[in-house]
Amino acid sequence: MDYEHFKGRSLLCWLDYSAAEITALLELAKRVKTESKSGQVRQRFLGKTIALIFEKRSTRTRCAFETAFGEEGGHPVFLSTADIQMGVKESLEDTARVMGRMFSAIQFRGFKQETVETLAAFAGIPVYNGLTDSYHPTQVLADIMTLEENFGSAKEKNLCFVGDGRNNVARSLMVICAKLGVNFTIITPAVLAPDHDLVKRCAPLAAESGARLRISDKLEEVKDAHALYTDVWASMGEEDKKAERKALLAPYQVNSSLMAATGRNDTIFLHCLPAVKGEEVSAELIDGPQSRAWDEAENRKHTIKAIMLATLGAV
Ligand code: CP
Ligand code: NVA
Repeated sequence: MDYEHFKGRSLLCWLDYSAAEITALLELAKRVKTESKSGQVRQRFLGKTIALIFEKRSTRTRCAFETAFGEEGGHPVFLSTADIQMGVKESLEDTARVMGRMFSAIQFRGFKQETVETLAAFAGIPVYNGLTDSYHPTQVLADIMTLEENFGSAKEKNLCFVGDGRNNVARSLMVICAKLGVNFTIITPAVLAPDHDLVKRCAPLAAESGARLRISDKLEEVKDAHALYTDVWASMGEEDKKAERKALLAPYQVNSSLMAATGRNDTIFLHCLPAVKGEEVSAELIDGPQSRAWDEAENRKHTIKAIMLATLGAV
């Protein structure tokens, strides 16, 4: 695919991208990973700058953006919202306008999806969603890449998310799977089911791609899964819900016996990380041979580099 038409675009949520475009970004990510493994040094972001705005903590996302941008000759600038004027001494719109005059791109991680949407509307440069309460799009591109590395293609494979079904990662997986024809099941207690509006938006996409989307509270639904995926029971910003979630989700821990319940001997385990070992996943599973969580973390860098290369017109 010609990457020209990605130039200048933001990534706020995969609903804004077609299946062909997502596939092209995955192809580019594979290429970038091969280049990186063979020690090639490129300078495709030379003379470019990116603002990395963080309202919430991060290890992987920050490191992936900083290293991917920096090693290609670009200059990343980390900005904690505790230090800048954004939304405190000036409006979000004004910060966006000013940053748009100084940077080549912006990454935002924080609470509201509307914040990243406003930045994109007013900055006039590509804005990347590095996680909000609603979506975590860069994460799930790395997840699909990891599935492809293990099973050749992700299409028609069965991915099963077990845990807090209404969180940003589960929601983003639903969107990308619906687009790409990956069968996706969320196993979660009924009170943590994803919101109906999103399910309604994904249903026609799944019908078009051939993906089967299911939401259930039954652990037996892991049957035939190629991958079991989980995430923390209380996401950033929900620390006060921790006790309630623990009580609700304790029966949904992903461990070796749940992996065995897929009935497949090649099921892999995925986790976006950070993980609370002993809660959503057992230590023996995440640290054991079925876990691909560490490849998945590495793939954050390659996929994020691909997104930036395409949208900055630097492929
Ligand atoms: N998976 C992920 O986004 O990790 P960080 O919170 O460390 O960035
Ligand atoms: N759902 C988690 C993902 C962390 C990468 C959170 O929002 O805290």
